[in-house]
Amino acid sequence: MELINLIFFPPTSMASSLSQTVLFSILLFLSLHQACAKRTHLNFYFHVTDVQANATDYGTIIVMDQALREGLDENSTLIGRVQGIQAAVGKDGSLETMFNFLFLNKQYNGSTLAIYGRAPLETTIERPVIGGTGKFRLSHGYSLAKPVILSATRLVYELDVYVWPLELKDD
Ligand SMILES: *[C@@H]1O[C@H](CO)[C@@H](O)[C@H](O)[C@H]1NC(C)=O
Ligand SMILES: *[C@@H]1O[C@H](CO)[C@@H](O)[C@H](O)[C@H]1NC(C)=O
Ligand SMILES: *[C@@H]1O[C@H](CO)[C@@H](O)[C@H](O)[C@H]1NC(C)=O
Repeated sequence: MELINLIFFPPTSMASSLSQTVLFSILLFLSLHQACAKRTHLNFYFHVTDVQANATDYGTIIVMDQALREGLDENSTLIGRVQGIQAAVGKDGSLETMFNFLFLNKQYNGSTLAIYGRAPLETTIERPVIGGTGKFRLSHGYSLAKPVILSATRLVYELDVYVWPLELKDD
């Protein structure tokens, strides 16, 4: 809204400046491109069944390879795997996570999404999708992870991932 106000009702000093006009045109193009690019919404469950250590103890680093499944059930269809590293970097128990989501389902088989960011304890975790490969090449977006099961042996998060692929091929 602020951008639109500036374009249609620019302060006079701005309107007279060519470089400002060029900058606004670029910003408008980028925001329209963002609005028009096709968004993909992925929903699946991240099953952590290998809880080797208490990951929230400050300084703990965990390497993981865990399942992404279609549903909450431990035997529901495998969608892919999460391979990555998490480190307890916060004295408040928050984690730094560096994950690659490797898809193994028919639609995105072999493609990956790189998800990097801070994971606070026991709240919805929002993390940036910083890129991808295969069908997700040059993607960007964000992921929301909501804890559904938190027990000593099994953690399950529901994930909603929103990505804006630059190019999404059919096969
Ligand atoms: C999942 O599959 C395993 C192995 O077949 C079985 O032991 C287990 O009971 C199943 N779990 C559920 C919730 O159905
Ligand atoms: C995914 O690709 C691998 C390697 O090309 C293949 O073996 C596998 O059957 C494929 N899986 C699906 C679900 O298409
Ligand atoms: C992990 O560590 C935190 C902080 O020390 C503690 O509150 C929590 O109960 C521990 N969780 C498990 C499953 O041991």
